[in-house]
Amino acid sequence: CHTNFSVPLVGAIDQGTSSTRFLVFNAQTSEVVCQYQVEIRQSFPKEGWVEEDPQEILQSVCECVEKVCEMLTHMNISTDLIKAIGVTNQRETTLVWDKETGLPLYNAIVWMDLRTQSTVDRLISKTPGGNKNHLKSQTGLPISTYFSAVKLRWLMDHIEEVAHAVDTHTAMFGTVDSWLVWCLTGGVDGGIHCTDVSNASRTLLFNINTLQWDLELCSFFEIPVEILPEVKSSSEIYGYLASGSLTGTPISGCLGDQSAALVGQMCLKDGQAKNTYGTGCFLLRNTGTKPVMSDHGLLTTVAYKLGPDRPACYALEGSVAIAGAVVRWLKDNMGIIQSSAEIEKLAASVGTSYGCYFVPAFSGLYAPYWEPNARGIICGLTQFTTRNHLAFAALEAVCFQTKEILDAMNQDSGVPLTQLQVDGGMTCNQLLMQLQADILCIPVVKPTMSETTALGAAMAAGSADGVSVWNINTEHSVTTERYQPQINPNETEFRYARWKKAVQKAMNWET
Ligand code: G3P
Repeated sequence: CHTNFSVPLVGAIDQGTSSTRFLVFNAQTSEVVCQYQVEIRQSFPKEGWVEEDPQEILQSVCECVEKVCEMLTHMNISTDLIKAIGVTNQRETTLVWDKETGLPLYNAIVWMDLRTQSTVDRLISKTPGGNKNHLKSQTGLPISTYFSAVKLRWLMDHIEEVAHAVDTHTAMFGTVDSWLVWCLTGGVDGGIHCTDVSNASRTLLFNINTLQWDLELCSFFEIPVEILPEVKSSSEIYGYLASGSLTGTPISGCLGDQSAALVGQMCLKDGQAKNTYGTGCFLLRNTGTKPVMSDHGLLTTVAYKLGPDRPACYALEGSVAIAGAVVRWLKDNMGIIQSSAEIEKLAASVGTSYGCYFVPAFSGLYAPYWEPNARGIICGLTQFTTRNHLAFAALEAVCFQTKEILDAMNQDSGVPLTQLQVDGGMTCNQLLMQLQADILCIPVVKPTMSETTALGAAMAAGSADGVSVWNINTEHSVTTERYQPQINPNETEFRYARWKKAVQKAMNWET
């Protein structure tokens, strides 16, 4: 019974690729008070296409918020204690809607979708020397199917409703954060069309040096700047919830999910890094107030800006498209497991892939290769191979991909990481965490409170000017679990060399 509960609370909407969650945190202790989660459907209308329904995304958020409010009421906790809400989201996923009807003009094109490859090829051919890194000094990003501007260009070229709405000035573009904030703050009745620097920096339209939409970039993609949301800091009051049980509560935090995890893991100083194992896998290293360009295939991104008058902080990022998604594939496409959790039992029963290597290049390969034509392969099969070995190889693939981006990051920064801070859904798989420590040959450290993405959004929201219920203490230490490397580094080297050969095959599978 919580009748005397009276501390300020902060809510966090965490809209990820696979699910939506709403969590409420105690602003004084950072503990989760209550949470609710809903799965999100993905559709695959053609090979390489991945879409989600914007209305379903919005409804899932409303459902989670309402359920949590009911749960709080049952716990005798007043929902009036929720002083602010932060939003964190799957990044790059692209939406266009009509500002007069409030309706989406197409499904959301999900970040890992590959339909824009020919758009990308055409855009690269426009650059001097056909250079995919032509926009890197302004954006920190290569021209790739991953980022929003090419998805938006595709929508304008292929979807008549989108082209028409752009011509008649009724189109609004946004990543998932913008769509949610616009809808939740009133939609057609005065909704706020905005985004934050971390999300904007994933579009290829945002100049990470000036922190503004860049007219040259807009003209390169032939995208009118008027359809873009206003870019704000990651921590300020954007607007107020216009309906539902929390009507009137300010939305005052907005961060792409990988940035939110960086904040939630307290990686707020130059050199601190975290790796999040979600649908994909994203290793971000804070580089302080200066953007650092990579020579090893990493992205330069705005990590966060915790207030309009605070400096922007940047990160180097290694992005892996397929991590948890390989487990979902084994479950949904192959039927090898019935639930995601089952993979650990299967893999542990053999403790080895028995020489089998699985490169899940379903969406090409992202960092450090940026090879869109790579495709998934499983090699080294024998008559002895079972689904258990495949399960092990799938987990090992997640760890090898992380090693590749960690190596690139160490080379770029010149200062090797001595441990890896981790979070995300897959980190409850203890076998995976031990395997990761063995493959990296450094300790893997996981906070006991695993909801770091939502926590980061709550911290941004709670500490915003005009809310000020959360005091971000950069020295705050968190309780962790540690996984120490346990195998001989020579064995790791041998397996990693084999993995590298398998990656080469995935990249050249047609030749
Ligand atoms: O860049 C895509 C990323 O933000 C998706 O995150 O957690 O849904 O895998 P997640």
